[in-house]
Amino acid sequence: MAKSHPHPQNSRRNFFVKAGAIAIGAVTMLVPAVSGLLVLLNPLRRKAATTGAVRVASLKALPETGEPRKFPVLATKVDAWTRTPNVPVGAVYLWRISDKEVRAFNVVCPHAGCFVDFQAAKNHYHCPCHDSTFALDGKVLDPKSPSPRALDELTAEIRNGDEIWVNFQNYRAGVKEQVRV
Ligand code: FES
Repeated sequence: MAKSHPHPQNSRRNFFVKAGAIAIGAVTMLVPAVSGLLVLLNPLRRKAATTGAVRVASLKALPETGEPRKFPVLATKVDAWTRTPNVPVGAVYLWRISDKEVRAFNVVCPHAGCFVDFQAAKNHYHCPCHDSTFALDGKVLDPKSPSPRALDELTAEIRNGDEIWVNFQNYRAGVKEQVRV
């Protein structure tokens, strides 16, 4: 008896059916794998950041004469997978205006990043690196100062009558506009 050969159209159909099944199987396995990977890597897409306003000092630590005082800023740092409390992130000068108002300035000079000092005798801030000077309200005092902008003022508020909270932020040095870093 003569052997029957499969019709060429049938074998082509079988080939496509098998290829389709393999493709569907592969996609079915790939979707959960990719989703799992995205969940796993999600924290990497988060930039390290500090968390909102931080308590910096109490009002009674500031002289009523209005002379600014320098305080370190400790914050909770959040990066890919960890939250680390009490990390030093910078420092601020706090200037008491009244029992209800305090102004805060980042101590970093906007020229090239040195720390400014407050000179009580002259009642102004001075940068020891290239002699920029700043008024109590942070404005550039001397037109010859190389600083391209005023000291960076930060939002400060008094909570519960005595706690000074500051929204701490660092900005890029050497540019006229405030650029967050
Ligand atoms: S870094 Fe302050 S004047 Fe240059």
